[in-house]
Amino acid sequence: MIRRNDPCWCGSGKKYKKCHMDEDERGQKKAGPPNRMVKTAEELEGMRAAGAFNGQLLDYIRDYVKAGVSTAQIDRLVHEYTVSHGHRPATLGYHGYTKSCCTSINNVVCHGIPSENEILKDGDIVNVDLTTIVDGFYGDSSETFLIGDVSEEARRLVRITAEAMLRGINAVCPGAELSVIGEAIEPFVQSQGCSVVHQYTGHGIGTSFHEFFSVYHHRDPDSDDVVLRPGMTFTIEPMINLGGWQVTTDKVDKWTVRTRDQSLSAQFEHTVAVTESGVEILTLTPTQRSLGKRLIVSGLEIE
Ligand code: MF3
Ligand code: CO
Ligand code: CO
Repeated sequence: MIRRNDPCWCGSGKKYKKCHMDEDERGQKKAGPPNRMVKTAEELEGMRAAGAFNGQLLDYIRDYVKAGVSTAQIDRLVHEYTVSHGHRPATLGYHGYTKSCCTSINNVVCHGIPSENEILKDGDIVNVDLTTIVDGFYGDSSETFLIGDVSEEARRLVRITAEAMLRGINAVCPGAELSVIGEAIEPFVQSQGCSVVHQYTGHGIGTSFHEFFSVYHHRDPDSDDVVLRPGMTFTIEPMINLGGWQVTTDKVDKWTVRTRDQSLSAQFEHTVAVTESGVEILTLTPTQRSLGKRLIVSGLEIE
């Protein structure tokens, strides 16, 4: 469970008690913890539709994430595709964020802001993080793409990160504690000589972007007291660094998060639901569904 002095789950960089703590406590009083996280069958249908659209959008932009394209162009494509399908990009206006997606290149860990001046080039790795609101429900997922000829070490990091996310997802089952996710991810990542970012976490998701609770991708004694129940929906989105786990936030734009040691960072994200027997990935893309693969990263297929 998130503590008063932890960083808030929303990624504002503020302490939880100074940010969303009051709001969460009001929400819990209304619905009673931890059932607030358990969706009805009808709500789950809404979550499936939102996840499916988000996956469709990820497949749509896949072809455009190439050398020579600016991250602002990707953002425009995301915006136009979403709006023309009658939906809304969730990041737009979120705590003052002005773009329809996040684009995080190389040593950027998360929350990179799309820009005209930022042109993808051969050898880059870039995470594109998409969140869509479909009829009031949120779908949130991301992939790290390889641009052209990528170094062996960057390719290795991306593969490890994809595997870390899948290990986290596979650990989910009803009755397990939330901490099984960090336990499945962190020792694996460390065994590969990489590190798990602590500051940013996965999150409950439903009819708002970031709901109670935080999903730690590292081992943390405070995440033990949430028991996973069928109908809970949340994201698993590990950020993995080639170097140390520490990160810094850009002092000027107040969003862009970078590795402190400037090492490369990668991330994958899916929105999932706990089922009666295990886990359902809500944000699979059509390609992932049709191939029975969970992830495709330019050239890498990871099951
Ligand atoms: N999509 C991100 C997540 O997975 C959050 C982005 S918030 C933004 O939680 F404001 F930076 F866009
Ligand atoms: Co998320
Ligand atoms: Co996201």
